[in-house]
Amino acid sequence: MIRVCVCVSGGGTNLEAIFKAIEEKKITDAQIVRVISNNPGAFALERAKKRNVEAICVSPKDYAERADFNKALLDALKECKPDLIVLAGFLVNVPVEIIREFKNRIINIHPSLIPSFCGKGFYGIKVHEEALKKGVKVSGATVHFVDEGIDTGRIIDQKAVYVKEGDDAKSLQERIMEEAEWVILPKTIQRIAQGEVKIGEN
Ligand code: GRF
Repeated sequence: MIRVCVCVSGGGTNLEAIFKAIEEKKITDAQIVRVISNNPGAFALERAKKRNVEAICVSPKDYAERADFNKALLDALKECKPDLIVLAGFLVNVPVEIIREFKNRIINIHPSLIPSFCGKGFYGIKVHEEALKKGVKVSGATVHFVDEGIDTGRIIDQKAVYVKEGDDAKSLQERIMEEAEWVILPKTIQRIAQGEVKIGEN
């Protein structure tokens, strides 16, 4: 059973999808040991508490210096001894010391087909607005390892979702979450837990 720490900032529907997958035994070899949010108001924290999973907030607002926040976040991660860290809508630039400490053990879900609509500034609804502006007919979601760049880590899984006539950014965002994110994120956690995903030269 691998130990998973999930980092969140908002509503936590991806976190919910992971909990559901555990309850439905689609994830059999991983347990969530801690949920960390940078935002004290994140509803994701309530979802964790409801399941009796430890939910804590490490907010940059509580620290005078960014370096102190980074250190507190690193400590909160180390403390729960995770085998895997899942960024599920975590709107924090993960500091390099954390990426190095947990090399190849951090994954992120991004709401587009990387390398499209990713990198600096591409988060939340903006990703879908840009996709629609470009007129793409297919978008989707990507699960990838986190390295020192923004959305540049090795891709683990992707799922495509068709853009429909009349879609706006919100409807596209919702369909991508439902059809892609909530599917490939739990699936990847199970694959990692079962030792099916290995990072190598290629
Ligand atoms: C998702 O779209 C995810 O891809 C992005 O942030 C959103 C988080 O949503 N990185 P939720 O908090 O899981 O509902």
